[in-house]
Amino acid sequence: MNVESLTPDADLDVSDPLLFEQDIWGPRFRLLRRERPVNYCHASPYGPYWSITRFEDVQEVELDHLVFSSDSSRGGIRIDNRLRDSFISRDPPRHTIERRTIAPVAAPTNLASYEIAIRERTRQVLSELPRGETFDWVDRVSAELTVTMLATLFDFPLAERRTLAFWSDALVCDYSAPNAPVTSDAAREKVLHEMAGAFSELWRERASQEPKPDLISMMAHNPAMQGMSENQYIGNLVLLLVGGYDTTRNSMSGGVLALSDNPDQHKKVAAQTSLIPSLVGEIIRYQTPIIHMCRTATRDVEFRGQKIRGNDRVVLWYVSANRDETVIADPDRFIVGRPKPHKHLSFGAGIHRCVGDRLATLQLRILWEEILAQKLVIDVAGTPERQYSNFIRGFDRLPVEIRR
Ligand code: HEM
Repeated sequence: MNVESLTPDADLDVSDPLLFEQDIWGPRFRLLRRERPVNYCHASPYGPYWSITRFEDVQEVELDHLVFSSDSSRGGIRIDNRLRDSFISRDPPRHTIERRTIAPVAAPTNLASYEIAIRERTRQVLSELPRGETFDWVDRVSAELTVTMLATLFDFPLAERRTLAFWSDALVCDYSAPNAPVTSDAAREKVLHEMAGAFSELWRERASQEPKPDLISMMAHNPAMQGMSENQYIGNLVLLLVGGYDTTRNSMSGGVLALSDNPDQHKKVAAQTSLIPSLVGEIIRYQTPIIHMCRTATRDVEFRGQKIRGNDRVVLWYVSANRDETVIADPDRFIVGRPKPHKHLSFGAGIHRCVGDRLATLQLRILWEEILAQKLVIDVAGTPERQYSNFIRGFDRLPVEIRR
């Protein structure tokens, strides 16, 4: 396909997971931003859909949740509408009530207590890494630290933490991905059943004990949860797991790749560690771990001169919004110390804005503080293997070597 210009009848489907697996999505989105920022694609494997590709347009759609619904009964938040029912794919009032029940995940006192556990584990994982030999950063560091954080959050048995990763992978994967852990709805349902059983058991255990500081106990003792069905509760735990796992894990890998590709930026932050928060913001923007979210129009509406009809699917492409050259200077460059390092849409906006943003930021900050404190220089030592997905922008493998 010619990605230099668009003919009037060109459809420009940007939903093919291969674009993201091969990391060749940039030119198509640049073209859409420039020539057709609100574009109707008539035919795709997921049916017709609108693409919203500019920063301010994505933000505006997100903020108008009355017209642009997240509800799964209308179409949900993924282009393929595959995600277990939970409040991310609900509109108010249910969304508002259930979101409140997991608010403790972002409470400052809880974050302060997680910080101690996260730092200790990060130090240990980093100090055990080999020097001068190639290993997979995704498996040894990103996945390990992220599942440990989630296990801490749920007070899930630490020895079984990798089961959390398997569950999340099985629930999120594209069935056509070469390494998909499940390849059918039936197989996915089986995993869900197993996971629901394990979480129900934990729930009953915590509900029968005195309140503890883990999230399951806090939810079990929260009066707002009392009217909630077991299904709703499981759905919300699944959401925390899949919301927290891939996103944070892939930011940890994306940061290592970006700094290995930009050694001048590594030197800059190593010389001035007060830039670490800015580094973290830039990693999250540049990586954009969630490629898109979807909405469904609740009624006919005119948006930027285009007529969106009720029930039309509207895809918000965060990857594109975060590279909008009219809002972010030199967006394809990785620059530590930008004037507004947190100006990005990776966490979304509006009523569904990520609940775990502070927790994710905390994890990444600690990781980079510890990497720089241990004076680790991490070189990418092979071709990164990217995930086959149009939803998660991430890595299956990232071969690296730490300099001796
Ligand atoms: C860098 C890491 C992360 C990124 C990029 C990210 C991204 C996002 C995005 C794009 C949304 C949807 C926003 C929207 O529709 O407007 C979201 C929602 C959500 N995220 Fe995150 N997330 C991250 C980490 C986490 C963590 C660590 C957790 C929890 C452990 C979490 C839990 C959630 C939940 C529960 C929602 C649903 C919020 C709602 O619908 O009200 N996320 N996240």
